[in-house]
Amino acid sequence: MKLNGRTAIVTGAASGLGRHIAWRFAREGARVAIADLNLAAADSSVAEIKASGGQALSVAMDVTAEKSVNDGVAAVIAAFGGIDILVSNAGLQIVHSLEEFSLEEWKRLISVHLDGAFLTTRACLPHMYGSGRGGSIIYMGSVHSKEASILKAPYVLIGLAKVVAKEGAKHGVRANVICPGFVRTPLVDRQIPEQANLLGISEQAVIRDVMLKDTVDGQFTTVEDVAEVALLFASFPSNALTGQSLVVSHGWHMQ
Ligand SMILES: NC(=O)c1ccc[n+]([C@@H]2O[C@H](COP(=O)([O-])OP(=O)(O)OC[C@H]3O[C@@H](n4cnc5c(N)ncnc54)[C@H](O)[C@@H]3O)[C@@H](O)[C@H]2O)c1
Repeated sequence: MKLNGRTAIVTGAASGLGRHIAWRFAREGARVAIADLNLAAADSSVAEIKASGGQALSVAMDVTAEKSVNDGVAAVIAAFGGIDILVSNAGLQIVHSLEEFSLEEWKRLISVHLDGAFLTTRACLPHMYGSGRGGSIIYMGSVHSKEASILKAPYVLIGLAKVVAKEGAKHGVRANVICPGFVRTPLVDRQIPEQANLLGISEQAVIRDVMLKDTVDGQFTTVEDVAEVALLFASFPSNALTGQSLVVSHGWHMQ
């Protein structure tokens, strides 16, 4: 098993990509903390992992709130004794063209994606630095981090990951970003009718002509695809793979 004896915190792991990544890590032997706003759904994620023989713990956490993040990380340390892997995955989707983005919505999105990434990183780093084992930090970006996409201005995580990679290197801490294409999670399932409304086209047209238009095969990326990349970043043994962002999108964006 690739993550035997390792401890991971996955934020936003009550649903979608985070839920599957947590389950995959647990299958590879990691003890996994499911950190999410939605504690009831986090508990069900934990039950699913335990039912398949894994070790997991739910933690109520709002990644935008300093005290909530610090308390949540402290609870994980108390329960598991350390943190080797952070997956900063909690996120939401607000789609608007720039001129229609309200400052309030902009701040809400940035606070989950960027403040959340910063606060969870800051809370975990001292434990990774102090353990003598290093660590792996994985940020959930998007193809939109690389590909200019209308309605999706606030996707800006890659710079933070590169700085964490530079600062963390001497402690064996690596930082990388996963940039998925569209994955059928609740977040995307909500977005399909929204975009159909906004663009005045059918839901099938949103899927075919907007979401999957530039993929090589018209296929959605899956939670399994993304978890496989997360496992690669989490289990990679050296600083050779750090400061990178890997696109997993059926060829939508090629770098
Ligand atoms: N689904 C896709 O196609 C896709 C593609 C690229 C990137 N992403 C990114 O992947 C991440 C996960 O998306 P998903 O599709 O699994 O979404 P999802 O809606 O299924 O799950 C998101 C989870 O994050 C949690 N969350 C939201 N705000 C939070 C907060 N402040 N504190 C703690 N938890 C919070 C929610 O409760 C939920 O459990 C997001 O960052 C998203 O932007 C998704």
